[in-house]
Amino acid sequence: MKKELNPVKKFGGAIEVPGDKSIAHRAVLLSLLSKDKIEIINFPDNQDCNSSLKSVEALGVIVERSENLVSLTPPENLTISDDGIIDCGNSGTTARLLAGIIAGSDISATISGDDSLSKRPMKRIIAPLTEMGAEIFADENNTLPMKINGKKLLPFEYRLPVASAQVKSSVMLAGLASSCSVRVIEDIITRDHTELMIEHLGEGLDVRVIKAEMVVDKDDPRKKKMIMPEDFKKEIKISSQTKINGGRVDIPGDISTAAFFLAGAAISKHTVTVAHLGLNPTRTAFLTYLKTIGCKVEITDKETVSGELRGTVTVTGADLKVKKISGDTTVGLIDEIPIVAVIAAFTNGTTVIRDASELKVKESDRLEAVAENLRLAGIKCGLLEDGLAIEGGTEFSGADFKSYGDHRIAMAFSIAAMFAVGPSTIDDASVVDISCPEFYELLDKVRN
Ligand code: S3P
Repeated sequence: MKKELNPVKKFGGAIEVPGDKSIAHRAVLLSLLSKDKIEIINFPDNQDCNSSLKSVEALGVIVERSENLVSLTPPENLTISDDGIIDCGNSGTTARLLAGIIAGSDISATISGDDSLSKRPMKRIIAPLTEMGAEIFADENNTLPMKINGKKLLPFEYRLPVASAQVKSSVMLAGLASSCSVRVIEDIITRDHTELMIEHLGEGLDVRVIKAEMVVDKDDPRKKKMIMPEDFKKEIKISSQTKINGGRVDIPGDISTAAFFLAGAAISKHTVTVAHLGLNPTRTAFLTYLKTIGCKVEITDKETVSGELRGTVTVTGADLKVKKISGDTTVGLIDEIPIVAVIAAFTNGTTVIRDASELKVKESDRLEAVAENLRLAGIKCGLLEDGLAIEGGTEFSGADFKSYGDHRIAMAFSIAAMFAVGPSTIDDASVVDISCPEFYELLDKVRN
């Protein structure tokens, strides 16, 4: 579906966005390991989350839906249909987390996905799961489809070689499924929804976040200095006692979806408010970024529901300043980089984004996709080995943008089109259904 988009006269308003995709995946997948029923309120009805629902259904979970409430009743024992194939569609989170669960279960299954997911790297989970004793068969490229013969796994210690919440979660869930101890160490803290969901629906998880400490300087006792007491930032321990009991999960709005509308506020210098928005500190780097570049960011009505922080966020745009993005900040903005790049195009000066190689293996090569679309709009954009250099502040022309089959690219350039000079099109706008089928309805609410 080609979508025509005209520039706005005015942008702003108050919206709510659908439930957080990452949190929903975890609530659904944990039903495979739960003693009792899991009920999910504000379930986001998008293609990715529905891939998780279909996966657990294929393994014997009874799924009941009404409006945005989903009820999941776990089976006595996991089962699998005759062909043994579980199709995860476009959803990397479903495939990687499910692989961990199946690896530690007592069934065999083949995990498959669509063309895009079948190109994405699976070695990152195959390697640690195999070290735990899992039996996994994939082709020489270590891509889907992969067959997993579930087994009793061995205790495992793992220092994440790639800053990935999906890899972390896959290994944790394998330990949980197999009731064996797993210790995971993070050098860069990634999103922690799996940890919070296990704590909310279960018990027996041990999490330690390492904080810098003030100590007396040995060389000069008059001085104090900050040190890290460990050479890592976080330690997570699953034990044979860790278990999931079940319960209710109320999902906050998805900050990665809200980011597109908040970016519109930033570019237009108008105001957008989003209520009931997830504010988990591992996901709010985008709000920090907006503040750093000069926007006003207000947060009210903060509360913790189902273990996750939420609140109402109001962003008002201003004259935007350039900010380099690298290191831990890039990890914190991992899903927001396409819209950050769009903001950069509307900012005077050159924005450099580094340490972003992971974006090459998302639903599309997001570095290429962003660079190509920015160039179509007449913006100079350099493709770096691990990022982008975007020369902003020049005229942003309307263009025929390409989604590359990637929901976040379609959304980022739909927002860009709002502020372009002249009309634009998005070639396959229906890809927004992957994470937010309501995207264009929401956009209609804030554009004039
Ligand atoms: C996700 C983690 C991130 C993110 C993805 C969802 C998750 O991927 O990009 O959209 O739900 O754990 P990585 O963990 O591979 O960085």
